[in-house]
Amino acid sequence: MKNFEYYAPTRVVFGKDTEKKAGELAKACGASRVLVHFGGGSAKKSGLLDRICASLTEAGLSYVMLGGVVPNPRLSLVHQGIELCKKEQVDFILAVGGGSVIDSAKAIGYGLYHNCDPWLFYDRKTVASGCIPIGAVPTIAAAGSEMSDSSVITNEDGWLKRGYSSDYSRCRFAIMNPELTCTLPPYQTACGCTDILMHTMERYFSHEKHTDLTDSISEALMRTVMKNARILMEDPRNYDARAEIMWAGSLSHNGLTGCGTAGDWASHQIEHELGGMFDVAHGAGLAAVWGSWARYVYQEEPEKFAQFAVQVMGVPADAGTAEETALAGIRAMEDFFHSIGMPTSLRELGAVPTEEQMKEMAQKCVFFGRRTVGGFRVLHAEDIEAIYRMAL
Ligand code: NZQ
Ligand code: ZN
Repeated sequence: MKNFEYYAPTRVVFGKDTEKKAGELAKACGASRVLVHFGGGSAKKSGLLDRICASLTEAGLSYVMLGGVVPNPRLSLVHQGIELCKKEQVDFILAVGGGSVIDSAKAIGYGLYHNCDPWLFYDRKTVASGCIPIGAVPTIAAAGSEMSDSSVITNEDGWLKRGYSSDYSRCRFAIMNPELTCTLPPYQTACGCTDILMHTMERYFSHEKHTDLTDSISEALMRTVMKNARILMEDPRNYDARAEIMWAGSLSHNGLTGCGTAGDWASHQIEHELGGMFDVAHGAGLAAVWGSWARYVYQEEPEKFAQFAVQVMGVPADAGTAEETALAGIRAMEDFFHSIGMPTSLRELGAVPTEEQMKEMAQKCVFFGRRTVGGFRVLHAEDIEAIYRMAL
Protein backbone atom coordinates (compact mmCIF):
# COMPACT_ATOMS: atom_id res chain seq x y z
CA MET A 1 0.00 0.00 0.00
CA LYS A 2 1.32 3.43 -0.92
CA ASN A 3 1.60 6.22 1.63
CA PHE A 4 -1.37 8.54 1.38
CA GLU A 5 -3.18 11.54 2.81
CA TYR A 6 -6.94 11.49 3.00
CA TYR A 7 -8.49 14.92 3.39
CA ALA A 8 -12.24 15.35 3.03
CA PRO A 9 -13.18 18.58 4.81
CA THR A 10 -16.55 19.16 3.10
CA ARG A 11 -19.56 19.11 5.43
CA VAL A 12 -22.15 16.86 3.81
CA VAL A 13 -25.80 17.62 4.52
CA PHE A 14 -27.70 14.80 2.87
CA GLY A 15 -31.40 14.11 2.33
CA LYS A 16 -34.82 15.50 1.52
CA ASP A 17 -35.43 19.26 1.87
CA THR A 18 -31.83 19.95 2.90
CA GLU A 19 -31.58 22.87 0.47
CA LYS A 20 -33.56 24.89 3.01
CA LYS A 21 -30.37 24.97 5.10
CA ALA A 22 -28.36 26.82 2.42
CA GLY A 23 -28.62 30.19 4.19
CA GLU A 24 -27.64 29.01 7.65
CA LEU A 25 -24.75 26.94 6.27
CA ALA A 26 -23.37 29.81 4.22
CA LYS A 27 -23.70 32.16 7.20
CA ALA A 28 -21.81 29.69 9.40
CA CYS A 29 -18.97 29.94 6.84
CA GLY A 30 -18.82 33.70 7.35
CA ALA A 31 -20.71 34.69 4.20
CA SER A 32 -22.36 38.08 3.96
CA ARG A 33 -22.81 38.64 0.21
CA VAL A 34 -23.27 35.54 -1.91
CA LEU A 35 -22.92 34.81 -5.62
CA VAL A 36 -25.60 32.25 -6.53
CA HIS A 37 -24.11 30.55 -9.58
CA PHE A 38 -26.21 28.26 -11.77
CA GLY A 39 -26.54 26.68 -15.19
CA GLY A 40 -28.89 26.74 -18.12
CA GLY A 41 -32.26 26.76 -16.43
CA SER A 42 -33.06 23.40 -14.82
CA ALA A 43 -32.64 24.82 -11.29
CA LYS A 44 -34.89 27.77 -12.15
CA LYS A 45 -37.57 25.58 -13.70
CA SER A 46 -37.71 23.19 -10.75
CA GLY A 47 -38.13 26.06 -8.27
CA LEU A 48 -34.85 25.16 -6.56
CA LEU A 49 -33.32 28.61 -7.08
CA ASP A 50 -36.32 30.28 -5.44
CA ARG A 51 -35.98 28.00 -2.42
CA ILE A 52 -32.24 28.71 -2.18
CA CYS A 53 -32.72 32.47 -2.42
CA ALA A 54 -35.47 32.38 0.22
CA SER A 55 -33.14 30.49 2.54
CA LEU A 56 -30.35 33.04 2.03
CA THR A 57 -32.73 35.94 2.73
CA GLU A 58 -34.03 34.20 5.83
CA ALA A 59 -30.46 33.90 7.11
CA GLY A 60 -29.97 37.64 6.55
CA LEU A 61 -27.61 37.22 3.59
CA SER A 62 -27.75 39.29 0.43
CA TYR A 63 -26.96 37.79 -2.95
CA VAL A 64 -26.37 38.37 -6.65
CA MET A 65 -27.04 35.78 -9.31
CA LEU A 66 -25.12 34.56 -12.34
CA GLY A 67 -26.53 31.78 -14.50
CA GLY A 68 -25.60 30.46 -17.92
CA VAL A 69 -22.96 27.87 -17.08
CA VAL A 70 -22.90 25.29 -19.88
CA PRO A 71 -21.59 21.69 -19.77
CA ASN A 72 -17.81 21.87 -20.31
CA PRO A 73 -17.91 25.26 -18.53
CA ARG A 74 -16.33 28.19 -20.32
CA LEU A 75 -13.56 30.50 -19.22
CA SER A 76 -15.39 33.56 -20.60
CA LEU A 77 -18.24 33.15 -18.10
CA VAL A 78 -15.67 32.66 -15.32
CA HIS A 79 -14.19 36.05 -16.27
CA GLN A 80 -17.67 37.62 -16.15
CA GLY A 81 -18.25 36.06 -12.75
CA ILE A 82 -15.01 37.47 -11.37
CA GLU A 83 -15.91 41.00 -12.56
CA LEU A 84 -19.42 40.72 -11.12
CA CYS A 85 -18.10 39.48 -7.77
CA LYS A 86 -15.58 42.32 -7.56
CA LYS A 87 -18.24 44.92 -8.35
CA GLU A 88 -20.72 43.42 -5.89
CA GLN A 89 -18.15 42.67 -3.17
CA VAL A 90 -19.11 39.01 -3.02
CA ASP A 91 -17.41 36.98 -0.28
CA PHE A 92 -18.99 33.54 -0.81
CA ILE A 93 -20.02 31.52 -3.87
CA LEU A 94 -22.93 29.10 -3.82
CA ALA A 95 -22.94 26.73 -6.80
CA VAL A 96 -26.40 25.37 -7.59
CA GLY A 97 -26.29 22.79 -10.37
CA GLY A 98 -24.09 20.13 -11.92
CA GLY A 99 -20.36 19.62 -11.88
CA SER A 100 -19.98 22.29 -14.53
CA VAL A 101 -21.53 24.92 -12.25
CA ILE A 102 -19.42 23.85 -9.26
CA ASP A 103 -16.26 23.90 -11.40
CA SER A 104 -17.10 27.34 -12.76
CA ALA A 105 -17.61 28.54 -9.17
CA LYS A 106 -14.18 27.17 -8.20
CA ALA A 107 -12.51 28.98 -11.10
CA ILE A 108 -14.26 32.25 -10.15
CA GLY A 109 -13.14 31.63 -6.57
CA TYR A 110 -9.49 31.32 -7.63
CA GLY A 111 -9.63 34.39 -9.86
CA LEU A 112 -11.28 36.52 -7.21
CA TYR A 113 -8.92 35.43 -4.45
CA HIS A 114 -5.76 36.11 -6.49
CA ASN A 115 -7.14 38.98 -8.57
CA CYS A 116 -5.80 37.32 -11.71
CA ASP A 117 -6.91 35.32 -14.73
CA PRO A 118 -7.51 31.85 -13.25
CA TRP A 119 -6.47 30.21 -16.54
CA LEU A 120 -2.91 30.66 -15.21
CA PHE A 121 -3.63 27.81 -12.79
CA TYR A 122 -5.31 25.53 -15.35
CA ASP A 123 -2.42 26.17 -17.77
CA ARG A 124 0.09 25.22 -15.04
CA LYS A 125 1.74 28.66 -15.17
CA THR A 126 1.40 29.12 -11.42
CA VAL A 127 -0.14 27.48 -8.34
CA ALA A 128 -3.01 28.69 -6.19
CA SER A 129 -2.52 29.85 -2.63
CA GLY A 130 -6.21 30.29 -1.79
CA CYS A 131 -9.77 30.47 -3.08
CA ILE A 132 -12.92 32.35 -2.08
CA PRO A 133 -15.10 29.95 0.00
CA ILE A 134 -17.61 27.88 -1.93
CA GLY A 135 -20.68 25.84 -1.05
CA ALA A 136 -22.49 23.48 -3.43
CA VAL A 137 -26.00 22.25 -4.04
CA PRO A 138 -25.46 19.53 -6.67
CA THR A 139 -28.42 18.66 -8.89
CA ILE A 140 -26.76 15.75 -10.72
CA ALA A 141 -24.78 12.85 -9.30
CA ALA A 142 -21.76 12.68 -11.57
CA ALA A 143 -18.58 14.74 -11.40
CA GLY A 144 -18.15 14.55 -7.63
CA SER A 145 -16.90 18.14 -7.66
CA GLU A 146 -18.86 18.81 -4.45
CA MET A 147 -16.21 16.88 -2.48
CA SER A 148 -13.23 16.86 -4.84
CA ASP A 149 -10.26 19.21 -4.98
CA SER A 150 -10.54 19.61 -8.75
CA SER A 151 -12.28 21.66 -11.38
CA VAL A 152 -12.21 21.52 -15.17
CA ILE A 153 -12.57 24.58 -17.39
CA THR A 154 -12.68 25.01 -21.16
CA ASN A 155 -10.83 27.95 -22.70
CA GLU A 156 -12.63 28.91 -25.91
CA ASP A 157 -9.32 30.30 -27.20
CA GLY A 158 -7.99 27.03 -28.66
CA TRP A 159 -10.77 24.93 -27.10
CA LEU A 160 -8.46 23.64 -24.42
CA LYS A 161 -10.14 21.75 -21.59
CA ARG A 162 -7.92 21.68 -18.53
CA GLY A 163 -8.28 20.51 -14.94
CA TYR A 164 -6.68 22.02 -11.87
CA SER A 165 -6.59 20.57 -8.37
CA SER A 166 -5.95 22.19 -5.01
CA ASP A 167 -7.44 21.73 -1.56
CA TYR A 168 -8.24 25.46 -1.40
CA SER A 169 -11.17 24.94 -3.77
CA ARG A 170 -12.84 22.19 -1.77
CA CYS A 171 -16.44 23.05 -0.99
CA ARG A 172 -17.10 24.11 2.61
CA PHE A 173 -20.39 22.24 2.44
CA ALA A 174 -22.39 20.14 0.02
CA ILE A 175 -26.16 20.08 0.33
CA MET A 176 -27.18 16.82 -1.27
CA ASN A 177 -30.87 16.20 -1.77
CA PRO A 178 -31.32 13.17 -4.06
CA GLU A 179 -34.82 14.42 -4.96
CA LEU A 180 -33.18 17.27 -6.88
CA THR A 181 -31.75 14.73 -9.32
CA CYS A 182 -35.13 13.15 -10.17
CA THR A 183 -35.70 15.60 -13.05
CA LEU A 184 -32.59 14.46 -14.93
CA PRO A 185 -33.22 13.00 -18.37
CA PRO A 186 -32.11 9.32 -18.69
CA TYR A 187 -29.09 10.28 -20.83
CA GLN A 188 -27.71 12.64 -18.14
CA THR A 189 -28.44 10.08 -15.43
CA ALA A 190 -26.47 7.49 -17.41
CA CYS A 191 -23.62 9.94 -18.08
CA GLY A 192 -23.45 10.64 -14.36
CA CYS A 193 -23.39 6.95 -13.42
CA THR A 194 -20.62 6.36 -15.96
CA ASP A 195 -18.54 9.20 -14.55
CA ILE A 196 -18.95 7.83 -11.01
CA LEU A 197 -17.83 4.37 -12.18
CA MET A 198 -14.90 5.93 -14.00
CA HIS A 199 -13.71 7.94 -10.98
CA THR A 200 -13.58 4.64 -9.14
CA MET A 201 -11.92 2.68 -11.96
CA GLU A 202 -9.28 5.35 -12.49
CA ARG A 203 -8.11 4.70 -8.93
CA TYR A 204 -8.76 0.95 -8.91
CA PHE A 205 -6.60 0.07 -11.92
CA SER A 206 -3.28 0.39 -10.17
CA HIS A 207 -0.36 -1.99 -9.77
CA GLU A 208 -0.17 -1.27 -6.06
CA LYS A 209 -0.48 -4.40 -3.92
CA HIS A 210 -2.12 -4.89 -0.49
CA THR A 211 -4.97 -2.50 -1.05
CA ASP A 212 -7.66 -5.00 -0.02
CA LEU A 213 -9.85 -2.57 1.88
CA THR A 214 -9.67 0.17 -0.74
CA ASP A 215 -10.32 -2.37 -3.51
CA SER A 216 -13.32 -3.80 -1.65
CA ILE A 217 -14.80 -0.32 -1.09
CA SER A 218 -14.35 0.42 -4.81
CA GLU A 219 -15.87 -2.89 -5.90
CA ALA A 220 -18.91 -2.40 -3.63
CA LEU A 221 -19.30 1.16 -4.90
CA MET A 222 -19.23 0.06 -8.53
CA ARG A 223 -21.72 -2.77 -7.96
CA THR A 224 -24.03 -0.33 -6.14
CA VAL A 225 -23.89 2.19 -8.97
CA MET A 226 -24.62 -0.42 -11.66
CA LYS A 227 -27.51 -1.96 -9.69
CA ASN A 228 -29.15 1.42 -9.06
CA ALA A 229 -28.45 2.77 -12.55
CA ARG A 230 -30.48 -0.15 -13.92
CA ILE A 231 -33.31 0.71 -11.50
CA LEU A 232 -33.27 4.37 -12.62
CA MET A 233 -33.48 3.46 -16.29
CA GLU A 234 -36.89 1.89 -15.46
CA ASP A 235 -37.96 4.17 -12.62
CA PRO A 236 -36.24 7.60 -12.81
CA ARG A 237 -38.00 9.00 -9.74
CA ASN A 238 -36.93 6.18 -7.41
CA TYR A 239 -35.64 8.13 -4.38
CA ASP A 240 -33.64 5.29 -2.86
CA ALA A 241 -31.80 4.56 -6.09
CA ARG A 242 -31.12 8.30 -6.56
CA ALA A 243 -29.80 8.47 -3.00
CA GLU A 244 -27.46 5.49 -3.42
CA ILE A 245 -26.03 6.96 -6.60
CA MET A 246 -25.67 10.46 -5.21
CA TRP A 247 -23.70 9.25 -2.21
CA ALA A 248 -21.58 6.98 -4.43
CA GLY A 249 -20.85 10.01 -6.64
CA SER A 250 -19.29 11.93 -3.79
CA LEU A 251 -17.36 9.00 -2.33
CA SER A 252 -16.03 7.96 -5.72
CA HIS A 253 -14.21 11.27 -6.10
CA ASN A 254 -13.36 12.50 -2.60
CA GLY A 255 -10.21 10.39 -2.40
CA LEU A 256 -11.63 7.45 -0.44
CA THR A 257 -11.39 5.00 -3.31
CA GLY A 258 -7.79 6.01 -3.97
CA CYS A 259 -6.33 5.52 -0.48
CA GLY A 260 -3.10 3.58 -0.94
CA THR A 261 -3.46 3.10 -4.72
CA ALA A 262 -1.52 4.84 -7.47
CA GLY A 263 -4.31 5.88 -9.86
CA ASP A 264 -4.36 5.95 -13.64
CA TRP A 265 -6.54 8.81 -15.00
CA ALA A 266 -5.68 8.21 -18.67
CA SER A 267 -9.32 7.71 -19.71
CA HIS A 268 -10.20 11.07 -18.17
CA GLN A 269 -7.36 12.87 -19.92
CA ILE A 270 -8.23 11.21 -23.24
CA GLU A 271 -11.89 12.22 -22.79
CA HIS A 272 -11.13 15.80 -21.83
CA GLU A 273 -9.72 16.37 -25.32
CA LEU A 274 -12.93 15.03 -26.85
CA GLY A 275 -14.89 17.39 -24.60
CA GLY A 276 -12.70 20.30 -25.68
CA MET A 277 -12.88 19.53 -29.42
CA PHE A 278 -16.41 18.10 -29.80
CA ASP A 279 -18.21 19.44 -26.70
CA VAL A 280 -19.51 15.95 -25.82
CA ALA A 281 -21.05 15.06 -22.44
CA HIS A 282 -18.19 13.99 -20.15
CA GLY A 283 -19.72 10.66 -19.03
CA ALA A 284 -20.61 9.62 -22.56
CA GLY A 285 -17.11 10.48 -23.77
CA LEU A 286 -15.63 8.31 -21.03
CA ALA A 287 -17.84 5.34 -21.95
CA ALA A 288 -16.83 5.74 -25.60
CA VAL A 289 -13.09 5.41 -24.92
CA TRP A 290 -12.87 3.22 -21.80
CA GLY A 291 -13.08 -0.18 -23.55
CA SER A 292 -10.35 0.78 -26.02
CA TRP A 293 -8.13 2.06 -23.22
CA ALA A 294 -8.75 -1.14 -21.25
CA ARG A 295 -7.85 -3.42 -24.20
CA TYR A 296 -4.74 -1.32 -24.88
CA VAL A 297 -3.41 -1.62 -21.32
CA TYR A 298 -4.81 -4.76 -19.65
CA GLN A 299 -1.79 -6.91 -20.47
CA GLU A 300 0.31 -4.83 -18.07
CA GLU A 301 -1.45 -6.80 -15.32
CA PRO A 302 -4.28 -9.04 -16.53
CA GLU A 303 -4.81 -10.30 -12.96
CA LYS A 304 -6.12 -6.89 -11.85
CA PHE A 305 -8.58 -6.78 -14.73
CA ALA A 306 -9.57 -10.38 -13.92
CA GLN A 307 -10.24 -9.33 -10.29
CA PHE A 308 -12.46 -6.53 -11.63
CA ALA A 309 -14.25 -8.99 -13.93
CA VAL A 310 -15.05 -11.39 -11.10
CA GLN A 311 -15.71 -8.98 -8.21
CA VAL A 312 -17.53 -6.23 -10.11
CA MET A 313 -18.89 -7.65 -13.34
CA GLY A 314 -19.88 -11.11 -12.07
CA VAL A 315 -17.69 -13.07 -14.51
CA PRO A 316 -17.17 -16.61 -13.12
CA ALA A 317 -13.77 -16.97 -11.45
CA ASP A 318 -13.11 -20.18 -13.39
CA ALA A 319 -13.96 -18.63 -16.79
CA GLY A 320 -10.45 -19.20 -18.17
CA THR A 321 -6.97 -17.67 -17.98
CA ALA A 322 -6.45 -14.28 -16.38
CA GLU A 323 -6.34 -12.75 -19.89
CA GLU A 324 -9.62 -14.40 -20.90
CA THR A 325 -11.33 -13.37 -17.67
CA ALA A 326 -9.98 -9.82 -18.05
CA LEU A 327 -11.38 -9.53 -21.58
CA ALA A 328 -14.73 -10.95 -20.46
CA GLY A 329 -14.87 -8.25 -17.76
CA ILE A 330 -14.15 -5.48 -20.28
CA ARG A 331 -16.90 -6.81 -22.56
CA ALA A 332 -19.31 -7.01 -19.63
CA MET A 333 -18.68 -3.37 -18.69
CA GLU A 334 -19.28 -2.32 -22.31
CA ASP A 335 -22.52 -4.33 -22.29
CA PHE A 336 -23.52 -2.46 -19.14
CA PHE A 337 -22.74 0.89 -20.80
CA HIS A 338 -24.92 -0.09 -23.75
CA SER A 339 -27.72 -1.22 -21.42
CA ILE A 340 -27.98 2.30 -19.97
CA GLY A 341 -27.75 3.97 -23.37
CA MET A 342 -24.08 4.92 -23.29
CA PRO A 343 -21.82 4.70 -26.36
CA THR A 344 -18.78 2.43 -26.46
CA SER A 345 -17.19 3.94 -29.57
CA LEU A 346 -16.59 7.41 -30.98
CA ARG A 347 -19.05 6.69 -33.79
CA GLU A 348 -21.76 5.90 -31.26
CA LEU A 349 -20.75 9.03 -29.35
CA GLY A 350 -21.31 11.07 -32.50
CA ALA A 351 -17.78 12.51 -32.48
CA VAL A 352 -15.71 10.98 -35.26
CA PRO A 353 -12.31 12.70 -35.46
CA THR A 354 -10.20 12.79 -38.60
CA GLU A 355 -6.59 11.51 -38.53
CA GLU A 356 -5.46 15.13 -38.13
CA GLN A 357 -7.85 15.71 -35.25
CA MET A 358 -6.70 12.53 -33.48
CA LYS A 359 -3.09 13.72 -33.75
CA GLU A 360 -4.07 17.16 -32.47
CA MET A 361 -6.00 15.74 -29.49
CA ALA A 362 -3.13 13.38 -28.61
CA GLN A 363 -0.66 16.29 -28.66
CA LYS A 364 -2.92 18.46 -26.55
CA CYS A 365 -3.41 15.55 -24.16
CA VAL A 366 0.34 15.30 -23.47
CA PHE A 367 0.60 19.10 -23.28
CA PHE A 368 2.66 19.07 -26.48
CA GLY A 369 5.28 16.77 -24.97
CA ARG A 370 5.35 18.32 -21.48
CA ARG A 371 3.79 15.23 -19.82
CA THR A 372 2.72 11.62 -20.21
CA VAL A 373 -0.65 10.31 -18.99
CA GLY A 374 -1.70 7.13 -17.20
CA GLY A 375 -0.25 5.07 -14.39
CA PHE A 376 -1.39 1.50 -15.14
CA ARG A 377 0.46 1.95 -18.40
CA VAL A 378 2.28 5.18 -19.14
CA LEU A 379 0.95 6.61 -22.40
CA HIS A 380 2.70 8.91 -24.88
CA ALA A 381 1.10 10.82 -27.75
CA GLU A 382 1.38 7.83 -30.13
CA ASP A 383 -0.38 5.54 -27.60
CA ILE A 384 -3.19 8.03 -27.17
CA GLU A 385 -3.59 8.33 -30.92
CA ALA A 386 -3.78 4.53 -31.13
CA ILE A 387 -6.50 4.45 -28.46
CA TYR A 388 -8.56 7.08 -30.33
CA ARG A 389 -8.16 4.96 -33.48
CA MET A 390 -9.24 1.78 -31.65
CA ALA A 391 -12.26 3.67 -30.26
CA LEU A 392 -13.50 4.80 -33.69
O1 NZQ B 1 -27.55 23.74 -17.01
P1 NZQ B 1 -28.75 23.01 -16.59
O2 NZQ B 1 -30.01 23.56 -17.11
O3 NZQ B 1 -28.81 22.74 -15.10
O4 NZQ B 1 -28.66 21.55 -17.33
C1 NZQ B 1 -27.69 20.59 -16.95
C2 NZQ B 1 -26.75 20.23 -18.09
O5 NZQ B 1 -27.36 20.40 -19.34
C3 NZQ B 1 -28.39 19.29 -16.70
N1 NZQ B 1 -28.88 19.14 -15.33
C4 NZQ B 1 -28.18 19.22 -14.18
N2 NZQ B 1 -28.98 18.94 -13.14
C5 NZQ B 1 -30.22 18.70 -13.66
C6 NZQ B 1 -30.16 18.84 -15.05
N3 NZQ B 1 -31.24 18.66 -15.85
C7 NZQ B 1 -32.40 18.34 -15.26
N4 NZQ B 1 -32.52 18.17 -13.92
C8 NZQ B 1 -31.46 18.33 -13.09
N5 NZQ B 1 -31.58 18.11 -11.78
O6 NZQ B 1 -27.39 18.30 -16.91
C9 NZQ B 1 -26.50 18.75 -17.92
C10 NZQ B 1 -25.09 18.40 -17.53
O7 NZQ B 1 -24.66 19.19 -16.44
P2 NZQ B 1 -23.12 19.23 -16.05
O8 NZQ B 1 -22.98 20.10 -14.86
O9 NZQ B 1 -22.27 19.53 -17.22
O10 NZQ B 1 -22.86 17.69 -15.64
P3 NZQ B 1 -21.78 17.01 -14.77
O11 NZQ B 1 -22.10 17.11 -13.32
O12 NZQ B 1 -21.60 15.68 -15.35
O13 NZQ B 1 -20.45 17.87 -14.97
C11 NZQ B 1 -19.62 17.66 -16.07
C12 NZQ B 1 -18.40 18.54 -15.97
O14 NZQ B 1 -17.63 18.21 -14.80
C13 NZQ B 1 -16.27 17.97 -15.19
C14 NZQ B 1 -16.43 17.41 -16.57
O15 NZQ B 1 -15.23 17.41 -17.28
C15 NZQ B 1 -17.49 18.31 -17.17
O16 NZQ B 1 -16.91 19.53 -17.59
N6 NZQ B 1 -15.63 17.13 -14.20
C16 NZQ B 1 -15.32 17.69 -13.02
C17 NZQ B 1 -14.67 17.00 -12.03
C18 NZQ B 1 -14.33 17.62 -10.74
N7 NZQ B 1 -14.51 18.92 -10.60
O17 NZQ B 1 -13.84 16.98 -9.80
C19 NZQ B 1 -14.26 15.61 -12.20
C20 NZQ B 1 -14.90 14.94 -13.36
O18 NZQ B 1 -14.10 13.88 -13.77
C21 NZQ B 1 -15.18 15.80 -14.53
O19 NZQ B 1 -14.05 15.91 -15.37
ZN1 ZN C 1 -15.11 12.40 -14.53
